[in-house]
Amino acid sequence: MAIVKPPLPYAEDALEPVYSANTISFHYGKHHQAYVDNLNKVIAGTDLEDKPLEEIIAAVAGDSAKAGVFNNAAQVWNHTFFWNSMKPGGGGAPTGAVAARIDAAFGSYEAFVGDFKAAAVGRFGSGWAWLVAEGDALKIVTTPNAEMPVPPGQKALITVDVWEHAYYLDYQNRRPDFVQAFFDKLANWDWADQNLGG
Ligand code: FE2
Repeated sequence: MAIVKPPLPYAEDALEPVYSANTISFHYGKHHQAYVDNLNKVIAGTDLEDKPLEEIIAAVAGDSAKAGVFNNAAQVWNHTFFWNSMKPGGGGAPTGAVAARIDAAFGSYEAFVGDFKAAAVGRFGSGWAWLVAEGDALKIVTTPNAEMPVPPGQKALITVDVWEHAYYLDYQNRRPDFVQAFFDKLANWDWADQNLGG
């Protein structure tokens, strides 16, 4: 039983023009696929081979001897979370359960986006920026490379991939513009609400 890449939750061109079909064809079709393929190679014939993805991640997290398994497994999980963090016609201030929590934590949606953008831009090199729930509080955190917020302490609500491969074809070196566009036009707040409640 190999790890399978979940289908994209929308058509490849559904986020045009904010996030191009060209970007998705490489990002989902090549990068995400490579993490899946590499993961299946490194777990083949091991006791992790038939485990669900979350169990694989938990089993190897923090074990430097298993970094190859962790990095590929975590990137599979992170990318699936990222695709679900966007939707056609998304973005703008949320209206569901997460809205009041954002206002309480950051003052306003605009202030939240400013803080998130600063954190995402401040993540040196490759990584991820996340809105997480930590107890009753919402926080913005960033993680390097393949790392992710770790439950149960931190529960991921929404994420932006800030690896260059996520935005270079559409935004070149302008990471702040990509993050702004994500929150203006792409963010799937239904997904954040679902994660908050789950
Ligand atoms: Fe990515």
